[in-house]
Amino acid sequence: MLKRISEDKLNEIRQASDIVDVISDYVQLKKQGRNYFGLCPFHGENTPSFSVSSDKQIYHCFGCGAGGNVFSFLMEIEGYSFQEAAIKLADRANMDLGVELAPSGQSQQSIAPQFQQMIEAHNLLSKFYHHLLVNTKEGQHALEYLQKRGFTSASIDKFHIGYALDSWDFVYKFLTKKDFQPSLIEQAGLIIRREQDGSYFDRFRDRIMFPIMDQNGNTIAFSGRTLGAGEPKYLNSPETAIFNKSKVLYNYHQARPAIRKLQQAVLFEGFADVIAADRSGVENGIATMGTSLTEEHVSILKKNVQSITICYDSDSAGIEAAFRAGKMLHESRCQVKVAMMPNGMDPDEYVKEFGEEKFRTDIIQGSMTLMSFKLLYYRKGKNMQNEGDRLRYIEQILLEISRLDMAVERDMYLRQLADEFQLSLEALKEQEKQYSRKQNQKQPPRPPVMHKQTVRIKPAYQNAERLLIAHMLRDVDLTYKVQELMRGNSFNIDVHQAIITYLYAFYESGHEPNVSAFLSFIDDVKLRRILVEIEMISVEEDISEQELLDYINQVLKHQKMLKIKEKETELKDAERHHDFNRAKALLTEIIQLRKTL
Ligand code: CTP
Ligand code: MN
Repeated sequence: MLKRISEDKLNEIRQASDIVDVISDYVQLKKQGRNYFGLCPFHGENTPSFSVSSDKQIYHCFGCGAGGNVFSFLMEIEGYSFQEAAIKLADRANMDLGVELAPSGQSQQSIAPQFQQMIEAHNLLSKFYHHLLVNTKEGQHALEYLQKRGFTSASIDKFHIGYALDSWDFVYKFLTKKDFQPSLIEQAGLIIRREQDGSYFDRFRDRIMFPIMDQNGNTIAFSGRTLGAGEPKYLNSPETAIFNKSKVLYNYHQARPAIRKLQQAVLFEGFADVIAADRSGVENGIATMGTSLTEEHVSILKKNVQSITICYDSDSAGIEAAFRAGKMLHESRCQVKVAMMPNGMDPDEYVKEFGEEKFRTDIIQGSMTLMSFKLLYYRKGKNMQNEGDRLRYIEQILLEISRLDMAVERDMYLRQLADEFQLSLEALKEQEKQYSRKQNQKQPPRPPVMHKQTVRIKPAYQNAERLLIAHMLRDVDLTYKVQELMRGNSFNIDVHQAIITYLYAFYESGHEPNVSAFLSFIDDVKLRRILVEIEMISVEEDISEQELLDYINQVLKHQKMLKIKEKETELKDAERHHDFNRAKALLTEIIQLRKTL
């Protein structure tokens, strides 16, 4: 369990952490008036509705309602606990809290000690492999191999690339000397047990080592490449308790801020491609580990972005794989683009031959839509001079067109097809409609896209409550005055009442007005969101005595109206039962209540 961080320390951390700064690691923010705006990292959107206030040190999304202070931002975006967020922020501000973040992020307390040890063994080994590569004579030839391939020393450092000695027992000795149990090292996949005599030998020998990291930068596996022509070209760690290929994306840990910021991820096939792209300034690249894309990979990506560019090898296998990945991403409602290199090249080869800038501009920025890619894809292996091939192609494209969501898109591609093959647009449209009908029979309709919350006009008492809260957040005296004027009555809206109850407690324990600090005082996400919404939309002017009374009256009036309605129902009931005494009493009450309105 982590030590508790004192409130003084928390205040210090908050003061040292500028929210605009912290959020800028994840979102590209532009200043507009008093606030900063950007694309919300919590839901997919094309127009910015995510705002950050530097004065108030809070953020709010008008689209999805996300909101909070610098702590809750990290909690929501990284899945941290409050403590973890505090430690991260302290770390960022170079403050020493004397506590450390446990390896591998969320709910770390639940990670079994032997898994922590496996991670520890990987981290140590990764450092040593890197040292062997860059600083030793034994690693010299490996370093030269990488340099010849165009790896810069900046890349080698950034990706912690290393070298495994040509030895059968180097890892075994290195780790057992540091008190790791052989059985644990074996379970971690780093050494292999011989059947005959139960002795062990190293899995990776004389290979370039690419460490595979989890989302927190802990090494959980390795992939080792041969220097020459040996087989297999890449040797991967086996699946272990800490490593599951189908859930791991290479470079995800380092690419995530860029992915979030650009709202775009680039998916590669190989490590070398990710690294070459990074060198070219494409820092939002990730790769699967020599396997095809899984649903788990997609769901990890979907937490961060809507838009994904597939940049696979442009050979036949790569194009097939891109087609499958594109289909899968499209079905998960991602916006898919495809980047293709000429002549069957892979990205790494392209960068080496045509340079970094051309890769960035022509290949990545010049990527095509998924539909344009399909137009090319279906041409593969067909001879367009051949009538049979041509008809087959047109049919495949029509089928794809009928699956497009937007009518304008369908229209555009139909025209293109009609133009290219000199066909009547009418005939194509007719055919496409038939496919479309078949599609609709087969498939359930797609769920509607979530739109921004429709702005509804709020009743007067609700606005009054919000405005009162907005002023109470700035002024302690005014808060006590409201408390007095409410004479023990509650606000009509439950969450509003909950907020002011917290606020009384906050002021009573000696705090000064400070929304960001107050947010840390509330542990309910829903309340925090509403609080931020109130704070972000409220006006900053002073309130006159008369206005204050008007707002309070509106709040109380609504309660009286409710009470009157209640009494009126009771009155009808009494009349129906010919209970005239009760009816008379109720009527008097109603008249009394009406008078006070
Ligand atoms: N791969 C693997 N096992 C192999 C070959 C490949 O796991 N025997 C995985 C690796 O993750 C590799 C990816 O598949 O990065 C792509 O393979 P390939 O295109 O053959 O390798 P490149 O990335 O081009 O590697 P290099 O440039 O080093 O040849
Ligand atoms: Mn390659």
